[in-house]
Amino acid sequence: MDIRPLTPYDLPGIQNTNITNLPENYFLKYYLYHYASWPSLSFLAVDVATNKTVGYVLAKMEEEPSDGIPHGHITSLSVMRTHRRLGLAEKLMRQSQKAMVEAWGAKYVSLHVRVSNTAALRLYRDTLGFDVEKVEEKYYADGEDAYSMRRDLSFLI
Ligand code: ACO
Repeated sequence: MDIRPLTPYDLPGIQNTNITNLPENYFLKYYLYHYASWPSLSFLAVDVATNKTVGYVLAKMEEEPSDGIPHGHITSLSVMRTHRRLGLAEKLMRQSQKAMVEAWGAKYVSLHVRVSNTAALRLYRDTLGFDVEKVEEKYYADGEDAYSMRRDLSFLI
């Protein structure tokens, strides 16, 4: 398995992985916007045996942070079922957070996750050290609430 920064050629593979794994989907131009604006923050996991994309993290910097503090945001993360519990999501997340600090001076990273998403919550809270900041009611299109989570990145500097 190879983890590497994405290129524009990877965007359709990432979009396909997203559609397979999550109900929150985006137009190709939204992926392109991430790549064009913050090329060092998003990564993909490739199965070298098949050369197929099996996971990705799509990330950005918050453009106009309401608190005035530069910080990153995880837009989307997923790994194909066939390749889960191999540590890929953890590696993708750590690479992206490192780049947020080194390339953009991020002080913390934020994300939203469904309150019912036990696997992702375990990853964010227990493995990566995110804290729940607040609950955002009816954040998702189907009415489910989100945990708004964040992780301090100052210790990475
Ligand atoms: N149940 C419990 N804990 C889990 C699970 C699970 N199913 N999956 C991961 N974890 C926790 C464990 O602590 C695990 O460590 P361990 O395997 O040593 O016990 C740790 O997270 C690291 O797991 P990884 O192997 O790195 O995680 P994986 O590559 O399997 O990907 C992910 C986890 C991304 C949540 C995957 O299950 C997935 O793609 N799910 C569907 C899409 C999704 O929910 N994405 C997140 C949405 S939120 C957002 O995008 C900001």
